[in-house]
Amino acid sequence: VLANPLRPVLLAAGRSPRLGRTVSRLGLTRRVVDRFVPGESERSVVEAAAALLASGRFVSVDHLGEDTTDAAQAEATVQAYLSLLRAYADLPVPAGSAVPALEISLKLSALGQALPGNGDEVALANARTLCRAADAAGVWVNVDAEDHTTTDATLAVVRALREDHPTVATVLQAYLHRTEDDCRSLAGTGSRVRLCKGAYAEPASVAFQGAAEVDASYARCLEVLMRGAGYPMVASHDPALIDAALALVTETGRGPDDYEFQMLYGIRDAEQRRLVAEGHHVRVYTPYGDQWYGYFMRRLAERPANLVFFLRSLVSR
Ligand code: FDA
Repeated sequence: VLANPLRPVLLAAGRSPRLGRTVSRLGLTRRVVDRFVPGESERSVVEAAAALLASGRFVSVDHLGEDTTDAAQAEATVQAYLSLLRAYADLPVPAGSAVPALEISLKLSALGQALPGNGDEVALANARTLCRAADAAGVWVNVDAEDHTTTDATLAVVRALREDHPTVATVLQAYLHRTEDDCRSLAGTGSRVRLCKGAYAEPASVAFQGAAEVDASYARCLEVLMRGAGYPMVASHDPALIDAALALVTETGRGPDDYEFQMLYGIRDAEQRRLVAEGHHVRVYTPYGDQWYGYFMRRLAERPANLVFFLRSLVSR
């Protein structure tokens, strides 16, 4: 995951609003972006979700946007999610499933966390609004993990949300040194944790830098969650870690409704279907909206082959 020498450059570029505006204006990226983002409109993501449900997969939709610096934008994000939750009502969810097939994934920075002064309070209030609407609709809520400067604040918001909405999930990133401890404190009954490797550029003071170290940390964290009493969500495309998760599922005697796999829209589709065919729940993280630039750059940074594909699309216009 971290072996790509261009990773820091791509991740830094992904945080530049100016570069983002330029790339988005070029319009040339659409074809490449389409692989990871089914569309900019709510309609496009609802169609993608319907197709995923029809194939037996579950869905978590993310309204793209992050690092919001004004309250009006944060409010617009809330409205977008409320509208999405209304649109969810028309989706054909599997009858009698013990696990909700639909989830929304939120980024607190899109809900106002970075606003000067009372950003955490604004993000919490906005997240509460969405949790209430999601509960009423029988939809799960997940709070995404962003860069390490936000981890403590995000976990505090999640703890506050869980007082009223105990199924609210959060994401832990295995590349952070702190995460094994966080897994221990979040492995209790009913606690839903999505474990991923981590997608941001983080300093050596807080994060493992080598791929082997990150993988080893992921394996340790996975073991803590699987041996715990919560609901682990294995968010990785890495075959070795998926195998490790499958072995732990067998060893700990977890039933099919006691854990799930998660992958990103457009990545390892055949593997997603294979796991479903073997009886596992697989949830696909499906983003939509016009703020796709930061998300797209993180996907490029994960895999040099994606960058080659992207550059090729530029020269073959
Ligand atoms: P790794 O990067 O080692 O990839 C393993 C294999 O998967 C590759 O060899 C390739 O086959 C395939 N693959 C992986 N990435 C690919 C790509 N971009 N394009 C094509 N193939 C690819 N991060 C974060 O910091 N906060 C968060 O909230 C989330 N949320 C989240 C939700 C879900 C459902 C997933 C799956 C991932 C996240 N992530 C995340 C991203 C995560 O941290 C990580 O960056 C990516 O999942 C890539 O890591 P892998 O575990 O897949 O391994």
